[in-house]
Amino acid sequence: MKKIIIANWKANLSLAQARSLAKKLAASRPAKNLTAVLCPDFVALGEMANRLKKSAFLLGAQDCSAFLPGAHTGEVAAAVLKQGGVKYVIIGHSERRANGEGAKVISQKIQQVVAEKLIPIICVGETAGERRLKKTKIVLAKQLQEVLAPLPSKHVKSPLIFAYEPVWAIGSGLTPEPLETAEICAMMKNLAAKAGFSRVTVIYGGSVTDQNAGEYLQYPAIAGLLVGGASLDARRFRRLLNF
Ligand code: PGA
Repeated sequence: MKKIIIANWKANLSLAQARSLAKKLAASRPAKNLTAVLCPDFVALGEMANRLKKSAFLLGAQDCSAFLPGAHTGEVAAAVLKQGGVKYVIIGHSERRANGEGAKVISQKIQQVVAEKLIPIICVGETAGERRLKKTKIVLAKQLQEVLAPLPSKHVKSPLIFAYEPVWAIGSGLTPEPLETAEICAMMKNLAAKAGFSRVTVIYGGSVTDQNAGEYLQYPAIAGLLVGGASLDARRFRRLLNF
């Protein structure tokens, strides 16, 4: 099966930097067995859609509204993202959870995304403290359950991506063992299947680099990678896509 590599640019780039990075990447070809997705900020999205049209890259957003289009100041609806060429939407990143985004809103957002037949990339992961207390599996099961349970049954066959992103691994240079990560990804897929969601894949994110990507991707249970820092440099990210 094709693995997916998703670049999360966060709010790191100016518009000029986003343009320049997209231009350098557009000319490159990810390895045949990879799907490559770029997630710029909302302002860069429109321009990237044009720039990447003829490239091998697909487009993702970093968030979306929990509501249908309407009177919701400051929100960007999933339907509009779709019109703008977006195929994937990151939901519930720990940097958003840390700013107060809770399970209810995350679940509403997932619902908006799947209703538009876009694919959500739902981020979950334990903190360093939870890991120290050996609570990783309990935390993940809870995070999974609380966003899946409220989804209407008509969505059980929608493709969903979960990104296992330990909070302590994001941007820190620290990473979990690849074998342990594969076991966790397999556990999450099983939990989702038990809850009736049959098209769930699980990817890993947190301090992924062109050096360590292959160590994770060798495991069938790890369906891909969510990449922050290492996706901001064209040469590094290209190496990651052709490892
Ligand atoms: P990082 O970020 O690769 O810089 O650790 C990953 C993420 O937050 O998705």
